[in-house]
Amino acid sequence: MKSLQHLHTFGLRASSNDLACIQTLSDAHDFVEHHKYAPFYLLGQGSNTAFIEDYEGTVVEMALKGITVSEDDGHYTLNVAAGENWHQLVIWCLQHNIRGFENLALIPGTVGAAPIQNIGAYGVEIERFIQSVQYIDYANNQLCHIANKDCAFGYRDSVFKNKLWQKVMIVGVTFSLAKSWQPVVTYGELAALSAPSAQDIFNKVVEVRQAKLPDPKRLGNAGSFFKNPIISRTALGLLQQRFPHMPYYETNIHEVKIPAGWLIEQLGFKGQQEGDIRCHPEQALVLTNLGQGTGTQLVTLARKIKQAVERQFNIVLEHEVQLIGAKGTVLL
Ligand code: EPU
Repeated sequence: MKSLQHLHTFGLRASSNDLACIQTLSDAHDFVEHHKYAPFYLLGQGSNTAFIEDYEGTVVEMALKGITVSEDDGHYTLNVAAGENWHQLVIWCLQHNIRGFENLALIPGTVGAAPIQNIGAYGVEIERFIQSVQYIDYANNQLCHIANKDCAFGYRDSVFKNKLWQKVMIVGVTFSLAKSWQPVVTYGELAALSAPSAQDIFNKVVEVRQAKLPDPKRLGNAGSFFKNPIISRTALGLLQQRFPHMPYYETNIHEVKIPAGWLIEQLGFKGQQEGDIRCHPEQALVLTNLGQGTGTQLVTLARKIKQAVERQFNIVLEHEVQLIGAKGTVLL
């Protein structure tokens, strides 16, 4: 048995039958060829996965590296291997005067994981920069390209979480960034910046994230545990009669998004613990591992929160973090 504790940022004590690491494209094809019939789970830097039990299969670390850039009059095109660290890519781009990713600073994880949940923060989602995604199809071990329009991107969602979940291995992402850069400062804490440079936005995002979100290197966590729920305007109207101060974000003409952190805080969960798993005192949407947390404790606290939110607000929370049990994906 191989320990998984250091391979996921929640740091739960769990193991798998075996570990593998993919460093070249030919490693990737070999792995797919040899694991056609055996269970495996692909991991980037383990920042959106919690191993809640010992996994009965092989955990594969994606470590493909490489960045290439080309440019024309209007755009930079970046081809980035799936195993590159996301935040390091953001820094590298700013150093090369390639702007656009700065709102997404400090998001943990790899480039290959970014399209899966369409990473987003402070008013920007990665879908706006993705031109295509390269993956190996497990069915035939072929390298394929999928264009942005076919990725079915949504809020924390994509084809890779649905139709292609565990059917493909993402090996690279092609991004297109316009040279005519416009700052995005729509989000609360960024709105105060006047005529900011990309570096100013980067600095502010880093400051805000560091103030609210626990550093996974110091305190085990996987960022937001739940997605912010999207509800109809009719449901919002009913809730506002009982909770006039409930915050919400405009989403589309029929729906709004509710900050799950607010719902969870209203129910008094901030700082609450189940064993060594705690609802973060600075940001109720984040669950943390104080050190000796277990998968069972995590699931217990998450279920309590989910049930309480449903009872009080009639809203069903979905967890954003992938929970992996003995046989693979587990739902709350
Ligand atoms: N709020 C509370 N109590 C809390 C937390 C939040 O009342 O404990 C309310 C406040 O009204 C606050 C609002 O929620 O103004 C929004 O909070 P915050 O700005 O912290 O953002 P969030 O909606 O909780 C989302 C993303 C984060 C992302 C931030 C900034 C999701 C699930 N989470 O969080 O993403 O960094 O917005 O854009 O969409 C992640 O996915 O891991 C992540 C950290």
